[in-house]
Amino acid sequence: MSFRTFILGLSASFGVAWLAIVVVPFIKMRNLAPIELNEATDGATGIFFPKRTGRVADGAQVYAENGCYLCHTQVVRPTYAGNDLYRPDWGGLKADPDRGDTRRETNAYDFFGEKFAQIGVSRMGPDLSNLGRRVESIYAKDGSATQWLYSYLYNPRHIPENYQSTCPSFSFLFHEQPVKGERNADALPYGGTDDTEIVPGPEVKALVSYLLSLKKDQAVPTVLNFAPDKGKAAKK
Ligand code: HEC
Repeated sequence: MSFRTFILGLSASFGVAWLAIVVVPFIKMRNLAPIELNEATDGATGIFFPKRTGRVADGAQVYAENGCYLCHTQVVRPTYAGNDLYRPDWGGLKADPDRGDTRRETNAYDFFGEKFAQIGVSRMGPDLSNLGRRVESIYAKDGSATQWLYSYLYNPRHIPENYQSTCPSFSFLFHEQPVKGERNADALPYGGTDDTEIVPGPEVKALVSYLLSLKKDQAVPTVLNFAPDKGKAAKK
């Protein structure tokens, strides 16, 4: 084998893989075509629009800067590849009070508004695809979801039954300040002294707004829905 063939062979082996795994998906995902709803299968007409509210773009940046993606994924895998849909409330809620079973798999439209899809590197902690929904409907059912997340991020171990949590504390995104008159509405319910309170900084405010936008259980057109109970999920 000549040196030239060797180099050509080497470039082809890596080049084809790079094209198929990086370039082609990037071009396809970068410019997602709008999906037209189908009256017969989706029960509606018009264009499907992925809904998200909150500080998605800047919150995603704080998420990335602090390495949340190293331990948390945001992918609800299709059932042939894993049991994510059957893990407690990862894929949506099994019994949402208004919408019933809202579980479904992740699709490319779920990352609408984010520069990168933070699918994650490892699953040291739970999947966060539907964290917003989980916090609002389960963890902070009778309180403020925003406040629950501030308290959690300041110290995940402040909840007695979570004392062994290995989620890092992001207390450096908060600061302590003297109480002047009324306590700050965002101040943590714990920490601080009689005269001081702990309040979230601007970055953690963006991060929490982003975390609450993580509700990847919106009904999607049937063509995007690979959940076992296809028709039902699409019509909700
Ligand atoms: C070193 C790995 C690691 C990193 C980095 C990490 N986490 Fe965690 N996280 C965990 C583990 C493990 C758990 C599960 C234990 C627990 O509930 O505290 C968890 C749990 C959580 C939960 C509770 C989820 C639930 O449904 O119970 C939230 C919210 C969370 N992490 C947010 C974050 C955010 C936001 C960041 C980035 C600012 C982050 N984590 C970074 C490991 C990590």
